Amino acid sequence: MVAVLRYLTAGESHGRALMTILEGFPAGCPLVAEDIDAEMVRRQGGYGRGGRMAIERDRVTIMAGVRRGYTLGSPLGFLIRNRDWPNWEAVMAPEPGDPGDPIRRPRPGHADLAGAVKYGHHDLRNVLERASARETAARVAAGAAAAVLLAEMGVRIISWTHALGDVAMDPDRVPTGRTPEEAWEDWRTREAATDLRCPDPGAEEQMIAAIDAAREAGDTLGGVIGAVALGVPPGLGSHVQSDRRLDGRLAGAVTAIQGIKGVEIGEAVANARRLGSLVHDPIHPGPVGRTFPVRPTNRAGGLEGGMTNGEPVVVHAHMKPISTLRRSMESIDLDTREAVLAHHERSDVCAVPAAGVVVEAAMALCLADAFLEKFGGDSLCEIRRALQHYREGL
Ligand SMILES: Cc1cc2nc3c(=O)[nH]c(=O)nc-3n(C[C@H](O)[C@H](O)[C@H](O)COP(=O)(O)O)c2cc1C
Repeated sequence: MVAVLRYLTAGESHGRALMTILEGFPAGCPLVAEDIDAEMVRRQGGYGRGGRMAIERDRVTIMAGVRRGYTLGSPLGFLIRNRDWPNWEAVMAPEPGDPGDPIRRPRPGHADLAGAVKYGHHDLRNVLERASARETAARVAAGAAAAVLLAEMGVRIISWTHALGDVAMDPDRVPTGRTPEEAWEDWRTREAATDLRCPDPGAEEQMIAAIDAAREAGDTLGGVIGAVALGVPPGLGSHVQSDRRLDGRLAGAVTAIQGIKGVEIGEAVANARRLGSLVHDPIHPGPVGRTFPVRPTNRAGGLEGGMTNGEPVVVHAHMKPISTLRRSMESIDLDTREAVLAHHERSDVCAVPAAGVVVEAAMALCLADAFLEKFGGDSLCEIRRALQHYREGL
């Protein structure tokens, strides 16, 4: 299945810049660089990040697809310059034939070894520069545009740090609100005052202590990101073909984020251990004047049969600990085959809060694609009309 909304990114971690092309975005949607920059800032934050984030001040330049603050229907092009580039120019752009100082000690858990074998690279920097999650800045730019489109349709995505290492938040503190807009605005305001994007201050304090202890030990941490899409109409995705199922598409988009190794939709893990009668969400008649049925619970996480069912789409993304450790792990020197410690370079101790912003972007891109598939339209007003007609039919 070819996506309606497609994107590509380019750029190395310490190269000149990152680039994004977003194709299939409708015309007539308001979009300014500030919408995207706000997400860039969120992606850079979070206690536990490394020195790089103190150097970068990510700002996007909209290179194509927008005129007078509105999208044109042509591909959107974004550029994010790397402020760190001048410090790396000699390493990243040496004279042709200059062997430099090749990296030959692959890090367990990173792309170094597999990438070098696959592409025949001698210098592992040729792999790690692109494998680095610096790429997610370009993905977040695309996701920010998709989120603006979804917001125009009344859909809001929020995420939070659910667990970090073995510290978990109180699940009753998951951000909510009367409307998608209210929930989004409320959490955005509260989130700005947190260190880790965790809605449970007590748990956040313990998470910070866990990061400090890991840093002290030269070690790293992962965690769990919670995310929800609110205001999603029923019927996005489809049951008719495996590659059209939205659960698979969402899981694919989220696990394609660097370091995310598991994704749970709804209460999938607990559901697998329960009786069916305690899992499936009953279907009740809607209140008078509202004909669409209501669901008293949402253990399915808003997805049944590969389609949205009108309930919030709930995802938990499981991130492994960062693989670049200051107390380097066992590896080998690829030249001598001797046992050595792995290469180390400036790195985050924990990037779960930042990864949450990337999860939002991945979900926004996936849901916006499913939206355009269902409601078509080359322009925002066509999509709005189709959505309104569909909602009336519900
Ligand atoms: C926002 C974010 C920041 C990350 N920062 C680092 C980092 O500083 N050092 C590191 O080794 N890995 C970092 N990672 C994870 C690696 O990029 C990832 O583990 C690596 O590319 C190998 O891919 P895989 O873990 O998906 O197999 C980060 C991931 C994300 C989402």
